[in-house]
Amino acid sequence: MLGGMDISQPLRLLGGLSPAQFMKRHWQKKPLLVRQAIPGFQPLLSRPALFDLAADAAVESRLLRHGGGRWTLRQGPLPRRGLPPLGQPDWTLLVQGVDLHHAGVHALLRQFRFVPDARLDDVMISYATEGGGVGPHFDSYDVFLLQAHGRRRWRIGRQKDLRLVEGLPLKILADFEPEEEYVLDPGDMLYLPPRWAHDGVALGECMTYSIGFRQPARGELARELLQRLADEAGDGLGDAAYRDPGQAAVAAPGAVPPAMFDFARDAVERALRDPAQLAMLLGEWLTEPKPNVWFDTPPARGDAAGGVALDRRTRMMYDERHVFINGEGYRASGRDARLMRQLADERSLGAGQVARLSEDAQFLLAQWKEAGWLHDDA
Ligand code: SIN
Ligand code: CO
Repeated sequence: MLGGMDISQPLRLLGGLSPAQFMKRHWQKKPLLVRQAIPGFQPLLSRPALFDLAADAAVESRLLRHGGGRWTLRQGPLPRRGLPPLGQPDWTLLVQGVDLHHAGVHALLRQFRFVPDARLDDVMISYATEGGGVGPHFDSYDVFLLQAHGRRRWRIGRQKDLRLVEGLPLKILADFEPEEEYVLDPGDMLYLPPRWAHDGVALGECMTYSIGFRQPARGELARELLQRLADEAGDGLGDAAYRDPGQAAVAAPGAVPPAMFDFARDAVERALRDPAQLAMLLGEWLTEPKPNVWFDTPPARGDAAGGVALDRRTRMMYDERHVFINGEGYRASGRDARLMRQLADERSLGAGQVARLSEDAQFLLAQWKEAGWLHDDA
């Protein structure tokens, strides 16, 4: 089978549902609790390894403490000595984007690639002491909450009243009305659609992995694409100037000529008219690495004629006419396009496939390799 996983195959991860069934019945619709989604699951990072990441300036982290109705939030980086003692209850450390820093966590994220890469965001790991949590809240995105260590009690509800407690450094529902309650053991997983209220409280020391998704807002997307379009519009549209040989003499010089408005509207419409360009800009935006991502450039090596694998930080997608990688878009067709799509879907290409790429495409691969975007596959 070409591409990703077999979407009609029942998965333990989804409680025996196939990805196709899960997407149809649950995705963006209703929660799913899966006992032993990953049987015998063990934390992929030890506590000290997680704390090391939290201390790293290149990693996004937060520390939350509560007690007596008060919440305090500290943004990372968080050196070890900045964390409360392990014996102290009611605090939690959240470390974002761990998939970028750890191969095993990236492999975990890949198990969720029955959802398009354009929607996958990251894996956040939370560490909490007894009673710790982020309080009752709702998120605007879907999330899979995988219990990795210890136990956590989740209470969830459909929550109509979305009012928040005022004056807190984080979003806490003013009047949370839970409808269901589950205690998750390591390997158990809870899927929640956007806007479902939830409150997870650690029952003793606890680690939870959140597989999160990105959900661009219409306004955000319009702003991003229009900005990129604006950067290119000048060149693309040429410098044909407004002409008005038919302009009559005016007695009211302050009035904007209607023809000027028509000219302006036409210019904007021309900039928007080319769907291929919009598709190019969308793909470039979707594959743009996060601001804190950088790639390690590999030591210079001879031409290895073997296969290649994408670096875990690389975002690669495609549409009918283009291939996108880490914010760059290329037009592609024919055999090159097929092979590049395969690279995006499977995140690797065998030596035989690399050999079938055109000279131009092989040249691109070499450049991407030099940038650290992909590596020789062992
Ligand atoms: C957590 O892991 O503590 C919070 C995850 C969430 O509520 O989205
Ligand atoms: Co949440």
